[in-house]
Amino acid sequence: MPSHSEANRISRAVQTLRADGTPFVDLTESNPTQAGIPYPTGIVASLSDPSALRYEPSSLGLLSARRAVADDHLRRGVVVDPAHVVLTSSTSEAYSWLFKLLCNPGEGVLIPRPSYPLFDHLTTLEGVFAHPYALEYHGRWDIDFDSIASAPPGVRALLLVSPNNPTGSVVTTDELERITAVCKRQGWALVVDEVFADYPLDTHGALTDIATRSEVLCFTLAGLSKTIGLPQLKLGWCVVGGPPAERDAALAALEMVADSYLSVGTPVQVAAPALLSAGASIRDAIQVRIGRNLERLRALTQAAPACEVLRAEGGWSAVLRVPATREEELLVLDLLRDERVLVHPGYFFDFPSEAYLVLSLLPAEDVFADAAGRVLRYVEC
Ligand SMILES: Cc1ncc(COP(=O)(O)O)c(C=O)c1O
Repeated sequence: MPSHSEANRISRAVQTLRADGTPFVDLTESNPTQAGIPYPTGIVASLSDPSALRYEPSSLGLLSARRAVADDHLRRGVVVDPAHVVLTSSTSEAYSWLFKLLCNPGEGVLIPRPSYPLFDHLTTLEGVFAHPYALEYHGRWDIDFDSIASAPPGVRALLLVSPNNPTGSVVTTDELERITAVCKRQGWALVVDEVFADYPLDTHGALTDIATRSEVLCFTLAGLSKTIGLPQLKLGWCVVGGPPAERDAALAALEMVADSYLSVGTPVQVAAPALLSAGASIRDAIQVRIGRNLERLRALTQAAPACEVLRAEGGWSAVLRVPATREEELLVLDLLRDERVLVHPGYFFDFPSEAYLVLSLLPAEDVFADAAGRVLRYVEC
């Protein structure tokens, strides 16, 4: 049975405010459907296509939907063969299938640190270990290759998150070459999470053709949850690439895993072409929102010289380095009590030191600007 920890002090404070009906501004909001993003109301109509009344189980997904996902890669100039696309109900599910595929119990994967905390749960639930490699900030978040070289035995894959959550760092061409060389030498697969690839900030964008040209067995993951801001539709995908024999063996094994669950609903698969095309306006609205909020945060930080907004190359978060004059957890609790603003502490994402605050860039611009301004003034005092 997986261990389930008690709610931490921050969660308990939030629960108390909610129970008392005390309003607060949530700068941890990562759900775009709760952030006042305009959604075309007709977009869900495609889910009621009557052809979805017929059930035709298809382990890797309906070909029409796999083709739509492949075609969607053309937006970024990436040519994907629909036969190499595997549909899942979410990126999280894709991870769990890959851990089943790549690892025996007791084996594991390398994960970036800092990164998003779900990895610990996803690996534990599959009985595999997650060993961290470090990202270090030197004006941008670089991969620390020494921490990869000291990986323990039993590693089967290296996970890249590009752009990473919450650091926003994207893997560079040079880093990818070095990682590929290590994976080749060690016999590791490469798993690339590109859920935020559509949201560049301080960069021209993440590399998104990694699976199609990889020299090692490679899986790239994404889904509707971020690319069109509709997590509740439950459609993700995995593009399989690498040396053809290994790629095809992996696809055959994934087909067996997928066939054991058949977890992706028919309506969303039938609707996939329409959703991917109509979702462009949602993506655009999110991109405008996060860009403006980041710009605003930087402007506000000019008046708070003790704080620094770290370089964010992509994604939906900003990382604020603040003076470590009190523990991150206490600072977050104090901000909630005194300013009624909720932010994430850096330790939540396993930052190597204190003090960092992580702010979601999704909230409405006026709400974000007011709350971020209060956070900065509070910290500065
Ligand atoms: C980096 C990263 N990968 C994957 C996911 C999960 O995506 P999905 O909703 O498709 O499971 C998240 C969710 O926030 C994420 O931050």
